[in-house]
Amino acid sequence: MIKLYDKHFKPFISAKEIDDAIERLVIEISEDVGDEIPVFVGILNGSFMVVSDFVKKYPKPCEVTFIKLASYEGVKSTEDIQRLIGLTQDLTGRTVIILEDIIDTGNTLAEVHRIFENEKVKLLKIATLFYKPEAYKKDFKLHYVGIEIPNKFIVGFGLDYNGLGRDLPEIYQIKETQHMTNLVLFGPPGAGKGTQADFLKEKYHLVHISTGDVFRYNIKNETALGMLAKSYMDKGELVPDQVTIDMLNAEVEKNADANGFIFDGFPRTNAQADALDKLMDSKDSQINAMIALEVDDEILVERLLSRGKTSGRADDADESIIRNRIAEYYNKTAILKDFYSAQNKYFGVDGVGSIEDITVRLSTVIDKL
Ligand code: IMP
Ligand code: MG
Repeated sequence: MIKLYDKHFKPFISAKEIDDAIERLVIEISEDVGDEIPVFVGILNGSFMVVSDFVKKYPKPCEVTFIKLASYEGVKSTEDIQRLIGLTQDLTGRTVIILEDIIDTGNTLAEVHRIFENEKVKLLKIATLFYKPEAYKKDFKLHYVGIEIPNKFIVGFGLDYNGLGRDLPEIYQIKETQHMTNLVLFGPPGAGKGTQADFLKEKYHLVHISTGDVFRYNIKNETALGMLAKSYMDKGELVPDQVTIDMLNAEVEKNADANGFIFDGFPRTNAQADALDKLMDSKDSQINAMIALEVDDEILVERLLSRGKTSGRADDADESIIRNRIAEYYNKTAILKDFYSAQNKYFGVDGVGSIEDITVRLSTVIDKL
């Protein structure tokens, strides 16, 4: 990972992959051009690296020149292209190949076409090392494309963020989410998870994602995923992990600018923990900790029985049912404790004491993450 000014970037395309892509462009273009002496026109500043590597590999005589255009401010392309250095040589009758580092919206390319409008070149072709198809808004044909990339900001190999990063020999991609604290909250029934989640959510500005709530919401609102989940439940089958993960993904995306998430009720198996890791990874983030509230069984039984007296919840009224629920929790968490311990992310917190005392203990763990 690297940081340029305020932004974090992660490795995306290696120097080797770039070199291979340039090699492919050279082969394709030299075959098309044949014995003619082409003029390669680089668009400064970004293209200096690709032009340099390209012409070194080009197997036959060629000429090189540059024009200099500017369109980008920070991480956004602007419509307003400045022509800083135009064509300085007569290209009448020549085979011209534009060499671009990257084509994004195509605004720069439109300006290139304007520049060549009145030039009586024999042939004008466009080659670009990187291309963002989702961002491209023009109709100009791109004759040669090195690597298609998603519509995310990149730096390196000539490309910059406010002037920095051009010198990097490989490509880095901007991190989607910058810094998040993501917690998996665990605790046996009666441990006070709900109470503590409410507190943590406020204190750390986290979004609390309770899988139970997410399911109920999707089913009640008859979302596509909710209906899918229901179709399994109606048949008495377990909802496949992927459906649950897709629902969680939707929740995460709804709150893309959150400081982080508290996952509650998920994961429950190793496969789910793996899937959650992958989900967070796709958001350029990670689970930072599994925090488990530890409370002695006898205290839990006592708490739940007294809750049962007022809540009327049937499963809180019967001592043997309560003991079963607790036992089931330990069967399940044992696996997850191992999973997160292996990543040094398991934190057990003493869940006996006043609400305030417990929140202080939880905060101590979170503040150290
Ligand atoms: P376009 O005019 O939107 O096609 O953008 C072309 C120019 O914007 C490129 O020549 C780059 O200078 C710059 N640019 C586009 N995308 C990126 C990027 O992801 N990182 C850095 N510069 C970019
Ligand atoms: Mg450029």
